[in-house]
Amino acid sequence: MTASTASTAASASATASDPAWLPPEAFRALGSRRVLVHGDGLLADTVWGEVTAACAEFGGEAARVDGPDPAGPYDLLLRTRREHLDRLGEEGFFLERAGGRTTVTAAAPHGLLHGLFHVVRLGRTAFDRDRQRQAHRPALALRMLNHWDNVSVHPVMGQVERGYAGGSLFWRDGAARGSRADLDRVRAYGRLLAAGGINALALNNVNVHAEEARLLTDRLGEVAGLARALRPYGIRTHLSVTFAAPVVLGGLPTADPLDPAVRAWWAEATGRVYAAIPDFGGYVVKADSEGQPGPFAYGRTHADGANLLADALAPYGGTVHWRAFVYDHRQDWRDRSTDRARAAHDHFTPLDGAFRDNAVLQVKHGPMDFQVREPVSSVIGAMPATRIAVEIQATQEYTGQQRHVCALAPMWSEVLRFRPQGEGTPTVAELARGGLVAVSNAGDDPYWTGHPLAQANLYAVGRLGWEPGANPYRLLGEWIDLTFTPERSPEPERLRAGVYAVLKDSWRTYEKYTAPLGVGFMVQPGHHYGPSVDGYEYSPWGTYHFADRDGVGVDRSRATGTGYAAQYAKPWSELYESPDTCPDELLLFFHHVSYDHVLHSGKTVIQHIYDTHFEGVEEVEEARRVWASLADLVEPGRHARVAERYEEQLRSAREWRDQVNSYFFRKSGVPDAHGRRIY
Ligand code: GCU
Repeated sequence: MTASTASTAASASATASDPAWLPPEAFRALGSRRVLVHGDGLLADTVWGEVTAACAEFGGEAARVDGPDPAGPYDLLLRTRREHLDRLGEEGFFLERAGGRTTVTAAAPHGLLHGLFHVVRLGRTAFDRDRQRQAHRPALALRMLNHWDNVSVHPVMGQVERGYAGGSLFWRDGAARGSRADLDRVRAYGRLLAAGGINALALNNVNVHAEEARLLTDRLGEVAGLARALRPYGIRTHLSVTFAAPVVLGGLPTADPLDPAVRAWWAEATGRVYAAIPDFGGYVVKADSEGQPGPFAYGRTHADGANLLADALAPYGGTVHWRAFVYDHRQDWRDRSTDRARAAHDHFTPLDGAFRDNAVLQVKHGPMDFQVREPVSSVIGAMPATRIAVEIQATQEYTGQQRHVCALAPMWSEVLRFRPQGEGTPTVAELARGGLVAVSNAGDDPYWTGHPLAQANLYAVGRLGWEPGANPYRLLGEWIDLTFTPERSPEPERLRAGVYAVLKDSWRTYEKYTAPLGVGFMVQPGHHYGPSVDGYEYSPWGTYHFADRDGVGVDRSRATGTGYAAQYAKPWSELYESPDTCPDELLLFFHHVSYDHVLHSGKTVIQHIYDTHFEGVEEVEEARRVWASLADLVEPGRHARVAERYEEQLRSAREWRDQVNSYFFRKSGVPDAHGRRIY
């Protein structure tokens, strides 16, 4: 046995930015004990660095052992045993406690790292009672973030497209960040992600502009540098690439996926990527979508396009994530038959079975675009022979842009637990064999996410990918306990309950004061913040509510509408087909109904609109009050940042309430049953 005392703190926890859900305090239980680490390789070194830092901070003892059966006194053993690979995979681990010792056994160092963070999450409870051996293994093998970061500042979108947390963590002034401090921060970010369960990250925007395209070729060194900073925490790097790369980078006359020169170009470019980054994860592609180039230009299918890149990646074990976000963004608003909701299904389901094994179809969780309420995309259940990844949006583009509190784990959890074929059939999480992908909400803001409470969303992505059946409210509690370490507070219960109260129903609160009953949008065009009821009503992007003096909503039934409801399997197709059976929260997504239509709740649509908008604002007022009451318990900087954002949230929520209520009052002429103020 070789042993060393924890006299030198590893740099792991040293970062100028907010420690988020890994404050030093979260390591107290572990760091005050005798810990043995057994395992070799980069990630085992990371675990060792974490353990020595924690023990240095809290007076424990750390030792690293070579032999397979360490003896001697210890409280926690973190060990690798290759023979468990079949059972645990690279990332899983066993946890048990007997005879006063807690043991984490992983088959590989990556599992050891997850086991370590699991022990951190458990805190004292990892050491206070016996536990039978329990296996922990991620349900979804890939848990990825997509950063929509641009290398250079884009004139319209800024540096991070739909970013609400400052500039990019990865790029500045047109180049990859490379200073020691910057890379330490990237590493600290990787550490946070790993502790939440993320294992992959695409560095750049899916809209690949000219500069960014070159990351694949002459700017590859920048990608390799960032990959190096993320690797110690088991985060594999992926890259968004443009389908037109052979033309714009290779000087070829075509990007036709069936052209041998094009195939050779991709094979060679991909070979160079793997020479620089041997554990590179693969490509993310937005093709024939919102102006991005794609296979349609050559009369080819999206399977042809995806397979081209899949074949280039296959020799190295890489994957292409091919996005299903394909629709007509130049439609004529007068044309009532074209329906954006149908588009992905129409384009992709005929291709089921045509994609290579390492081509994953990445589908947004709803058929539209990350609205506060959408049905689950019909594509997810309709392509059994295709590996699907489900894409969610942590960046709050349509859910308050990190100025509003909107904890999204409850929504994502509903999506992941939905059963597209009905009772007794697989859940979305089970169908998502290609993984869970979230558009990131992080940037170079000191709190990472702009709104400090939006960290809860970033945290939940990996945790839900690991355990999609987890109660999302338990995950919120977990995040609160780690981030705020209430047990060190003079009033743990008031702190815990207060933070929980402002997060718990915040998604439903946001839904109440914005677009009603699943109809979506009603945001200001372009930047998508704040209300504009008719903002997209006559727009070529194709999202409408069709409100007139009699009623509101989009008829997507088979019988009289666009037929989107019929793209679902039973029982959903039948349920959504009729306003009588359609769930209230999706009524206006699937149906155009009159204002006096009575919901299952017993209210008319118009009264529901009024009531929810008044309630939503009241709930924000209450949340703001609760947050203010925590001023003595929360670190002042964090408290002030959230308090300031509550002022804006309240202002904006009132604006939403008054615009939406006034709009529908003027259209319908129906007064509020309670006589409240409508303008
Ligand atoms: C939304 C978003 C765009 C983004 C697109 C996508 O439409 O507003 O900024 O590019 O989604 O997911 O590709």
